[in-house]
Amino acid sequence: MQVYILKESNSDSRVAASPDTVKKMIDWGLNVVIQDNAGLNSNFSNEDYVKSGATISNSINDISKSDLILKINKPNDDEIALINEGSILIASLDPYNNNETLNKLKDKGVTSFAMELMPRITRAQSMDILSSQSNLAGYKAVIDATYLFNKAMPMMMTAAGTIAPAKVMVFGAGVAGLQAIATAKRLGAIVSATDVRMAAKEQVESLGGKFVMVEDDEAQDAETSGGYAKEMSEEFKLKQARLISETLASQDIAICTALIPGKKAPLLISKEQVNSMKPGSIIIDLAAESGGNCECSTAGETNNVNGITVVGVKNITSTISQDASSLFSKNILNFLDLLIDSETKELSIDWEDEIVKGILVTKNKEITNEEFI
Ligand code: NAI
Repeated sequence: MQVYILKESNSDSRVAASPDTVKKMIDWGLNVVIQDNAGLNSNFSNEDYVKSGATISNSINDISKSDLILKINKPNDDEIALINEGSILIASLDPYNNNETLNKLKDKGVTSFAMELMPRITRAQSMDILSSQSNLAGYKAVIDATYLFNKAMPMMMTAAGTIAPAKVMVFGAGVAGLQAIATAKRLGAIVSATDVRMAAKEQVESLGGKFVMVEDDEAQDAETSGGYAKEMSEEFKLKQARLISETLASQDIAICTALIPGKKAPLLISKEQVNSMKPGSIIIDLAAESGGNCECSTAGETNNVNGITVVGVKNITSTISQDASSLFSKNILNFLDLLIDSETKELSIDWEDEIVKGILVTKNKEITNEEFI
């Protein structure tokens, strides 16, 4: 069975297989082919892959000789055209926003799995790309904010005077938010965080952050069975806006991570609230690509709003690509482990498995997940 690892476009430095995961696939008896320089931007050279047993491909036409295609992002039209009917594609397919791609994969008869749909069950934790990538995103957001901030993060007592610690507020205390809290705490900042899920309170406090939240009846039921946030009522949003107005003005840095799967990100910081912050303050909006938590953020751009820097982050994990690739690759490998029979080294897919069912989006010329039809 041949596996083909595609190179990402120029806007993403990650790669869907590391030399370590390639070695494991070779040990399983798979034939691994990787596109020329696919790992270069993650510091994995062609030689590293060859040492692991892979073959380098100089032509994407090799896709058509492959049974299994691995990629970080959705393939482009040229790549889809080369995938054989019945071949398997594993990638992050952004199914909520990419109906066109799903239809093309369906029409070609590709069996495609969208890794971001991984169910949040214990057995699937090691395959969860949202967790592995969000964790790095939360860390990198704080590092980027620290770099842009023209003051120090920790308190410093010097002969020339005392420097006050920076105040960091984190919006959304999920995977990215919790890592942002931990990173900002490690740097010596005073950290607070807000979320709509009550479960986040204990997690924020265990990291040494102060939890700021609208605590009403609606908040008791703000979590879906999958562990995600629900969209809140207009009344709740008003209460939350009031709370943010009271808190944000005294903060130096805001890290925005709040998301609602399949929906536009909740708008949590208005332009007026941005203006209430001190000049020199920094807002890093990790939700920018999903519409943004901050009214002043534009995905892929840094805006200066009366001296406040608002960064609309686009694919932050690409800027920490070596680790992001290693973890993403491991997530894919762990999923592949579920698809391949350890004895025969052949595909042996249990189509009724909760994980397989959960992330399968196209098969036999059909879109298999009703949400995307
Ligand atoms: P996410 O990326 O969808 O959202 C990020 C955070 O934003 C969440 O904590 C969410 O509650 C929060 N949020 C949404 N709307 C908000 C609003 N209006 N105001 C403030 N905050 C808002 O979620 P993420 O980070 O992927 O994970 C959510 C939960 O899933 C967490 O509790 C996490 O621990 C859990 N989880 C469980 C896993 C498993 O059991 N396998 C794996 C990974 C995460």
